[in-house]
Amino acid sequence: CGIVGYIGHREAYPIIVEGLKRLEYRGYDSAGIALFDGTDLKVSKTKGKVADLENLSEKEITKHGNVGIGHTRWATHGVPNNINSHPHLSNSGNLVIIHNGIIENYDALKQELISRGYTFKSDTDTEVLVNLIEDVQKQEGVKLGKAVQIALNQVIGAYAITVFDKNKPEEIVVARLGSPLAIGIGEDEFFIASDASPFIEYTKDAIYLEDEEMAIIRFHKGIKIRKIKDDSLVAPYIQKLQLNLEEIEKGGYDHFMLKEIYEQPKAITDTYRGRLLRDQAIIKMSGVEDNMKKFLNANRIIIVACGTSWHAGLVAEYIFEDLARIPVEVEYASEFRYRNPVIREDDVLIAISQSGETADTLAAIKLAKSKGAFVFGICNVVGSSIARETHAGAYTHAGPEIGVASTKAFTTQITVLTLMALRLARAKGTITSSDYHRHLLELEMIPDKVKKALKSDNHIKIIADIYKDATNCLYLGRGYNFPVALEGALKLKEISYIHAEGYPAAEMKHGPIALIDENMPVIVIATKKGHYEKVVSNIQEIKSRKGKIIGIVTQGDEQVRELADHVIEVPETLESLSPLLTTIPLQLLSYHIAVMLGKNVDQPRNLAKSVTVE
Ligand code: G6P
Repeated sequence: CGIVGYIGHREAYPIIVEGLKRLEYRGYDSAGIALFDGTDLKVSKTKGKVADLENLSEKEITKHGNVGIGHTRWATHGVPNNINSHPHLSNSGNLVIIHNGIIENYDALKQELISRGYTFKSDTDTEVLVNLIEDVQKQEGVKLGKAVQIALNQVIGAYAITVFDKNKPEEIVVARLGSPLAIGIGEDEFFIASDASPFIEYTKDAIYLEDEEMAIIRFHKGIKIRKIKDDSLVAPYIQKLQLNLEEIEKGGYDHFMLKEIYEQPKAITDTYRGRLLRDQAIIKMSGVEDNMKKFLNANRIIIVACGTSWHAGLVAEYIFEDLARIPVEVEYASEFRYRNPVIREDDVLIAISQSGETADTLAAIKLAKSKGAFVFGICNVVGSSIARETHAGAYTHAGPEIGVASTKAFTTQITVLTLMALRLARAKGTITSSDYHRHLLELEMIPDKVKKALKSDNHIKIIADIYKDATNCLYLGRGYNFPVALEGALKLKEISYIHAEGYPAAEMKHGPIALIDENMPVIVIATKKGHYEKVVSNIQEIKSRKGKIIGIVTQGDEQVRELADHVIEVPETLESLSPLLTTIPLQLLSYHIAVMLGKNVDQPRNLAKSVTVE
């Protein structure tokens, strides 16, 4: 979901609509806006995209006013339709609210309000919240800010909210618990948004609300931040933003996803820049250096993440165990947090998250911290909740990732994890000096090799055209490339809606082999290093069952070429670094298939970029 708000001297409508477009990458299924036009409140909302909202508001409302809020909704309570879309009004029609997150005890609160005569138009938990605020205002005779605070203290769940009263339109109240909220501070104007991208061209000064904080924003008067629980005042901490507008625009590519696939050589370079100092033969990562003892004394490393980031964690399991000889467990954050896991003080937890906002990952971190474990974060979004919640960490520096399907975040996460594994292996003495140097050298060559891998784009397009109508697809890989097979399958599922499964190549004979017939495309990662001969045997097994084979092979390969229907070459590298290259053709293959099928590549149905609900 996305939140945008404005109060100041400019027209609010264009700022809000453009802002919502910038937040489209977060994924959503409906959009809405509320404007105060000087005398009254105008609300327009609809199922669909921001463009649909623009068409509708053209007819429905006068688009004037200096105060307003807008929202993109990703349905949790209640199906995506016009009524459930935000903003929501209170029964009196005075209060208007937008909300991200989930109010878990909404039903109990709703029953209570119904017993007091409140009625509800939508199925949303949000409409319950706005009426609860109104009810508090009436019962206690307090101002809006106070009413919001009292109401939120009755709420269980997660939220980022923005609310105002049409009778006091010079004031907007915002609050956060679990879902991000940033406030941009201009000259006598304020911007509110889920992240800074909607207001970056207006101001570089921003306050990120912390969990359990609320802010009362008053035109001409400034901003007051308080703790929701105990009402204490918080001194605002204003950050200087470094993001620029160009970085969040498409730059000539048809889709953000394609742009981000092509940005990988640069993104990987940015990730190791200043960290990999090959001429001095050192790796410098302050988050690791400052906590070296914790890492060296670690009983084991637990990696938690979701989605693509979880796949990066699986690659890291191979590299940490292989090079640094530290036992690693990789868990879905959502499972970890709910299964009473054994966590000890000498465990190190690494949380991986592109957005730094994923609710399950954040909860897993809090759990590990409460058990005394040391928690290290790998995030892409600077200043994100996970980056702030962890004891230490390393940013991926991939630049903003807008396409919902993750690409450059994955390869840069692997880059950070590889640097960490190498640094720790060096410190522990589990890697020989020559092996260490070879790794540094090869890692430095990866961006150029990614560029070479990208050159297969047209060839991959031809293959995509042949298989675009498949209903199923199997992805196989072994060792370091098993997680890449999982990630390849996930990419295809996410954006083309074709069912795909990733499997360890050798495990195929224990089940998935039953699926193979002449209609089944099987993508096999068969690079020269890494159980090559074994994978070739697996390919034979597929071939004798007439499966269609697409091999991802090392440049110059002949053996697989003879067996496979198609091969896509990637440059040669160390086995441990091969995921950084083998991933590239799989990203492109999914991309082209999705485009050919006419799917919405950057915003696939039902998915959200940043999942701030459990
Ligand atoms: C969502 C996105 C995925 C992403 C996952 C984890 O499901 O659609 O692309 O991998 O969340 O997100 P994170 O920001 O924590 O890496």
